[in-house]
Amino acid sequence: MEPRKRGQLIHLLHQAQTQEGYISAEAIAAIARKLKISEGEVFGVVTFYKGFSLKPQGKHKVTLCMGTACHVRGAPLILDELERTLQIPAGETTPDGLFTLETVNCVGACALGPIVIVDGEYHGQVKPREVKNLLVKVDENLDRLKEQ
Ligand code: FES
Repeated sequence: MEPRKRGQLIHLLHQAQTQEGYISAEAIAAIARKLKISEGEVFGVVTFYKGFSLKPQGKHKVTLCMGTACHVRGAPLILDELERTLQIPAGETTPDGLFTLETVNCVGACALGPIVIVDGEYHGQVKPREVKNLLVKVDENLDRLKEQ
């Protein structure tokens, strides 16, 4: 794909994601038609960049670092606690649309691991027992979390 067209494609994908919160199948089809390229080419770019999502995202984004340093400092226990509390596996969004849980490999703060990032705010040396409070702080209407 020529660089100019690729630039247009990325611009349109950003627009679609900003408007809908993710890249829908309809958006992929519409962008492909507009740029006169195949849906496969659009899909290839969407999946290449981690910033684009093919699934609707929650209101709050919870990211756990599972890089080596965080892993040895207890990240798997934090993941268990996040998944148990949110009742979803990593990579999914809660049915009420409030939280998306994802994992990444190293965010460059290894000495402070395990790291949990909630809506862009970094929390270091997180303990399993602190997980629920981190989530409740984000959205105080989370009665179902408070009751657990
Ligand atoms: S491994 Fe988690 S910040 Fe580097």
